[in-house]
Amino acid sequence: MLLKDKNIVITGSSRGIGKHVAIACAKNGANVGITSRSIDELNQVKEEIKNVNPDIKCVLKTADVTEYSQVEQLFSFFHEELGELHGVIANAGASGRWKTHEFESEKFSQILDVNILGVFHTFKATYQFMKKDDKKDKARFIITGSATYPAAMPMFAAYTASKYGVVGFQRALALEYKRENITFNMILPTMVDTVLLRGDKAGDGNAPPNVMHPSELTEYFVFLLTKEANRVSDELIYTNEFEQYRSLLEEIDEEYKQDWDTLKSYLEENEPKIYDNIRKQRRLAQFFL
Ligand SMILES: NC(=O)c1ccc[n+]([C@@H]2O[C@H](COP(=O)([O-])OP(=O)(O)OC[C@H]3O[C@@H](n4cnc5c(N)ncnc54)[C@H](OP(=O)(O)O)[C@@H]3O)[C@@H](O)[C@H]2O)c1
Repeated sequence: MLLKDKNIVITGSSRGIGKHVAIACAKNGANVGITSRSIDELNQVKEEIKNVNPDIKCVLKTADVTEYSQVEQLFSFFHEELGELHGVIANAGASGRWKTHEFESEKFSQILDVNILGVFHTFKATYQFMKKDDKKDKARFIITGSATYPAAMPMFAAYTASKYGVVGFQRALALEYKRENITFNMILPTMVDTVLLRGDKAGDGNAPPNVMHPSELTEYFVFLLTKEANRVSDELIYTNEFEQYRSLLEEIDEEYKQDWDTLKSYLEENEPKIYDNIRKQRRLAQFFL
């Protein structure tokens, strides 16, 4: 129960990554606030959460993250229901694939609105309700970014631009609020089997092998919400780099996994590239160990 009695809100939690993160938080003992624009899907997620952990509180409310008045009401509601918030995950996202010269302006700006303005609205509305009084257990603001930063995806100009944008947004917040007890971090997955990537085919069992299941991402989010990550801030966590490390952990002998120092020596000697990828995020590497 890594998150016992924490209050965590996850936007875009009616399906995909957000839904699995909400379930993982509940499994780890957190009370959760779930939200998106779809009440039926949210009710289903709440059912699943109650089955996984009937002892936590799960509250839900719909809101469109592009409309500030709705997001403001949303967080007042979560605050009333849950109390001060230990963690907020700005995860709601939208995408669209068109040749850029054929992209409709309205569609382009809708994607920017969900992926950038929505993250801003989430932070603006949640700030006053975050639990910021404990230096040893700071409030967490986590953004779901994308490995389209710093790579880019042709035909996804709006999505790519938006995911570059939130990196800048995080950097600005981390500097601006550095004297306050809040950490800002981003998880940047590559490809995940969700509606956003695969449309109606999401979850059909035929996803290519390099496409992750959303449940495989949850530990990254859980880690950032734990005490272990209290001093981790303004990091960009690329899951593909860590996935190589996690697969390696499953393959190597137990003797190399006894403690971090032993593993570190093993990696430096045998897997320098993997070590290089993960060494900046030593606490996360230790968490997976
Ligand atoms: N799937 C991937 O390959 C991948 C890779 C890297 C990063 N990501 C990122 O992961 C995050 C989650 O996406 P996902 O892959 O899990 O996609 P998804 O299954 O399509 O889920 C997107 C979520 O965002 C919500 N949402 C969309 N527009 C919204 C709005 N205007 N207001 C409120 N909620 C809204 C959706 O609910 P409603 O439609 O019901 O509102 C849904 O809950 C996104 O930020 C995405 O960019 C995904």
